[in-house]
Amino acid sequence: MSLSSRTIVIDAFGGPEQLRLVDRPVGEPGPGELRIRHHAVGLNYIDVYQRTGLYANPLPLSLGMEGAGVVEAVGEGVTHLAVGDRAAYASQPPGAYCERRVLPAKCVVKLPDAISFDEGAAMMLKGLTAQYLLRGTLPQGGLQAGDFILFHAAAGGVGLIACQWAKALGYQLIGTAGSDEKCALARELGAAHTINYRTEDFVARVKEITGGKGVKVVYDSVGADTFMKSLDCLQPFGLLANFGNASGKVPPLDIGLLAAKGSLYVSRPTLFTHIATRERTQAMADDLFGMVTSGQVKIRIDQRYPLADVAQAHRDLEARKTTGCSILLP
Ligand SMILES: NC(=O)c1ccc[n+]([C@@H]2O[C@H](COP(=O)([O-])OP(=O)(O)OC[C@H]3O[C@@H](n4cnc5c(N)ncnc54)[C@H](OP(=O)(O)O)[C@@H]3O)[C@@H](O)[C@H]2O)c1
Repeated sequence: MSLSSRTIVIDAFGGPEQLRLVDRPVGEPGPGELRIRHHAVGLNYIDVYQRTGLYANPLPLSLGMEGAGVVEAVGEGVTHLAVGDRAAYASQPPGAYCERRVLPAKCVVKLPDAISFDEGAAMMLKGLTAQYLLRGTLPQGGLQAGDFILFHAAAGGVGLIACQWAKALGYQLIGTAGSDEKCALARELGAAHTINYRTEDFVARVKEITGGKGVKVVYDSVGADTFMKSLDCLQPFGLLANFGNASGKVPPLDIGLLAAKGSLYVSRPTLFTHIATRERTQAMADDLFGMVTSGQVKIRIDQRYPLADVAQAHRDLEARKTTGCSILLP
């Protein structure tokens, strides 16, 4: 019996109108692969970059990098998962916007029973990102309890996970967000301070909150609109980790500026370097699952869309209408 899957594809880069629902055949997993039937699929800002072509992939392209469901078949050499297991992943290559797919098994992990499919689909890419940022993308000497950190877009998917995780680690997270309502939400979930960066000068406010010192690290996924000002929020030897471009790509940087502004460090990390091996993916996922099952991090799913309404989901995400995580239901 041949299987098929309702799948979202694009034939050309462009706006949300490019997203098309098609029926596609799905084959058997090859060596090192598995086939999963999705119960839920995560929506991520990277999906927008891939749809527009900011991050280029060969066309036609099926989007989506995060999902949760049940393993339907495993290929040769796959031993950490079996048919019938509940599972979740953040993965390369894209292709999660569908009912079922074949993908490399090394990025898929068992989903603990205490975590729902919806949460699993919402949290893997965003939660593993919060994990590698707060645990492993650190200024010289690391962070200590009580330290201030600045986190942009704090009411978003990655942001609300980071607010809670930072609080659990004892850090004073200063979160920026685009409305007073989003700021209130970030504070409710653990941000020590918030700044509405549409109405307030966030550099001045960070200086005020930190008694003129600035922060040791800025986690900046907004990119073009915030990058230069983020440098001005840092203490000497501080770290700017730019991990996204929601407002556009950061322009080329004159590295001499890093000397002038206090011997600063800049990093441009991506989750996919961190989860390149199965062992590392499992270790990071175990840390994330521990935070969630202990109740220290709650996965807020504020938007749910049928898979067929994916274009509306993209419009809402790009219009900054969403908070927390969004999922698609196949
Ligand atoms: N490098 C990595 O490993 C990695 C992994 C995961 C995610 N990311 C990045 O992390 C960021 C957050 O991802 P997410 O999926 O959780 O998305 P999200 O934070 O839920 O959504 C993006 C948010 O960015 C803010 N934003 C600021 N300027 C914007 C603009 N001009 N257009 C649209 N949004 C703008 C908006 O919040 P306000 O209205 O509050 O400003 C918006 O809600 C994204 O930039 C993503 O690419 C990077």
